[in-house]
Amino acid sequence: MLSDKIYSEFNKQINEEIFSAYLYLAMAAYFHSANLSGFAKWMEVQAMEELTHAKKFFDYIIERGARVALATIEKPKGEWKSALDAFESAYAHEQHITGRINHLMDIAIAEKDYASVAMLQWFVTEQVEEEAHASSIVEKLKMVSGTNGIFYLDKELGKRAFTQEND
Ligand code: FEO
Repeated sequence: MLSDKIYSEFNKQINEEIFSAYLYLAMAAYFHSANLSGFAKWMEVQAMEELTHAKKFFDYIIERGARVALATIEKPKGEWKSALDAFESAYAHEQHITGRINHLMDIAIAEKDYASVAMLQWFVTEQVEEEAHASSIVEKLKMVSGTNGIFYLDKELGKRAFTQEND
């Protein structure tokens, strides 16, 4: 049985992860409008990954015998000044999500809910990757600033493919 606090925070995390998908889809739409289809593809794959994150929390709440309660998804921002601006926002958003996961972990540890601690461990590791990906693209965008390198980067990012995880 989940405590009231963990139940409510895990439900909120479903919203956070779906909002992440929505935000990245908004960024994909922005990149399509800027004719940067590789960046758009990267964001579309990222959005799909976020939905799998939401589903992990969804499944976990059900496994623990509770009923999921879905809430309204906030409208994301739709305009960015540049590819760098969008990826800086994505990086900042991932740092926010890392903060959320750490917050959930703090609660699970305080409540001695070891099943939730184990479940959250996957997300702790995942967030290291999520931040590293976004931050490395931010750095590359800074390097190619003002050059044609952005088209090369667009081609590279367009190779990203969605792979369904087994766990
Ligand atoms: Fe689900 Fe990008 O964190």
